[in-house]
Amino acid sequence: MRKLLLALAWAGMCSVATAQTASVFETPVMGWSSWNTYRVHINDTLIKSQADAMVRKGLKEAGYCYVNIDDGFFGWRDERGVMHTHPHRFPKGLEEVAAHIHSLGLKAGIYSDAGSNTCGSIWDNDVNGVGAGLYGHEYQDVTLYFKDWGFDFIKIDYCGAGQELNLEEEKRYTEIRRAIDEMGCGHVSLNICRWAFPGTWAKKLARSWRISADIRPEWESVKYIIGKNLYLSAYAGEGHYNDMDMLEIGRGLKPEEEEVHFGLWCIMSSPLLIGCDLTTIPEASLKLLKNKELIALNQDPLGLQAYVAWHENEGYVLVKDIERKRGNVRAVALYNPSDTVCSFTVPMDILELGGKVKVRDLVKQQNLPDVKDGTLKHELPPHSVLMLRMESEKRLEPTAYEAEWAYLPCFDDLGKTPKNILYAPLQEASGGMIVSYLGGRKENFAEWKEVYSELGGTYEMTICYVPKADRKLEVCVNNEKRVLLDLLSADESRKLASVTVPVRLKAGYNKVRMGSPFCWAPDIDCFTLKKLPE
Ligand code: GLA
Repeated sequence: MRKLLLALAWAGMCSVATAQTASVFETPVMGWSSWNTYRVHINDTLIKSQADAMVRKGLKEAGYCYVNIDDGFFGWRDERGVMHTHPHRFPKGLEEVAAHIHSLGLKAGIYSDAGSNTCGSIWDNDVNGVGAGLYGHEYQDVTLYFKDWGFDFIKIDYCGAGQELNLEEEKRYTEIRRAIDEMGCGHVSLNICRWAFPGTWAKKLARSWRISADIRPEWESVKYIIGKNLYLSAYAGEGHYNDMDMLEIGRGLKPEEEEVHFGLWCIMSSPLLIGCDLTTIPEASLKLLKNKELIALNQDPLGLQAYVAWHENEGYVLVKDIERKRGNVRAVALYNPSDTVCSFTVPMDILELGGKVKVRDLVKQQNLPDVKDGTLKHELPPHSVLMLRMESEKRLEPTAYEAEWAYLPCFDDLGKTPKNILYAPLQEASGGMIVSYLGGRKENFAEWKEVYSELGGTYEMTICYVPKADRKLEVCVNNEKRVLLDLLSADESRKLASVTVPVRLKAGYNKVRMGSPFCWAPDIDCFTLKKLPE
């Protein structure tokens, strides 16, 4: 209960977008961060003037509320190990900078490393970053940063911890989390910066976690990060988010590329940390960053990340519920990452929207014609997105579930474990993706937590998989287990095979699990559900 009240209070304090529908969960962080434009070349005047600009340019009013100081503030540790700020960049310390930020009604963020040396000391020749990380100074630095200086957010990098000390990620971030909690600083927003999806443990420790290498102000970089996040929606939610890195809007991307960048960061519920110089930000970029209808997708009280419902040509259609779970309103993005025009012909039942559907273009902030014939058709130019709010007469019961939507408790993207379960491309698969390396041990399963049935009943479940010898599949529906052995008879020369089993679903959400505790399960493409007459 205390957690809930805190979350409500926090949401009300920070975000205009959620002011009316108090969020049960903390929404993604919105603000500004120093790294993209200034790297380690920051100072007190600069940070304060960016904070001032955030208010002056109407960004605070739009919901941006954090001013985050990234790498570059470190000075030295004294004989007691106490960190001091850089003598030239922050001669009066950080307490007064944080106080200035707070005086504007904003929140202040700081940076450190899980190891001894910061990334700046390794990559930016910032010698003061040597020994500046949290390693061996956890309690001391936590006290200084959050209690003495008053910071509200921390991004914790991994350069020193990884390359140099070769620490184990989950263990290391757990130690740091413990120090933060034990010092009574549990309210601080923690960001894990390990440049890949670190594992399902991250949700227990942090508000957000980076999923990719550093962003650059180039189209290829924006496209690469979106690609990395396409199949990670199962890991976000309940106030915890995949972090697609700081925004490169206002730093030279083409206008349509900026729309993709902001639109996808919004619908995927990534933190929104502006990375340009706010005092000179181009008007068009500022307008985009203040687009209330796009921000509303990011700060939506349900706190969901959109998933890929449809993949056609080189385009993707992402969708998520907004405002009400399984209601008639959904946010949809038609995304064309390719270098040519992309046609979309999206069946509306894939989006679970039935009857006449109202459509609003959120970038242009204007209504488009209703969809009446059950198909959403658009042609999109290269590197572009159409961000939509759709409102239907009816919400349809879903009939297909992709493997790439599943929650995989053993999944991580660290690349440290051979044959780790993963989402892999397969052209023939529906949606172009499968889940591979499933099974082999009990805990290595795939789970769909919200398989929905309007009224409950018996369904024919058809599982589509990649046929290979010596595979078994256990399917559990609401903990009722069934072992499928007849997969062995499948023709291995075919790319995909299917098997049909009757299952009983209750009304509302059902949990479907697939795996195999003692041997590999086949790679899974998807499953469909067809209701049988009672
Ligand atoms: C890493 C992070 C960046 C930035 C720098 C600072 O590269 O991923 O976002 O914080 O370190 O040195």
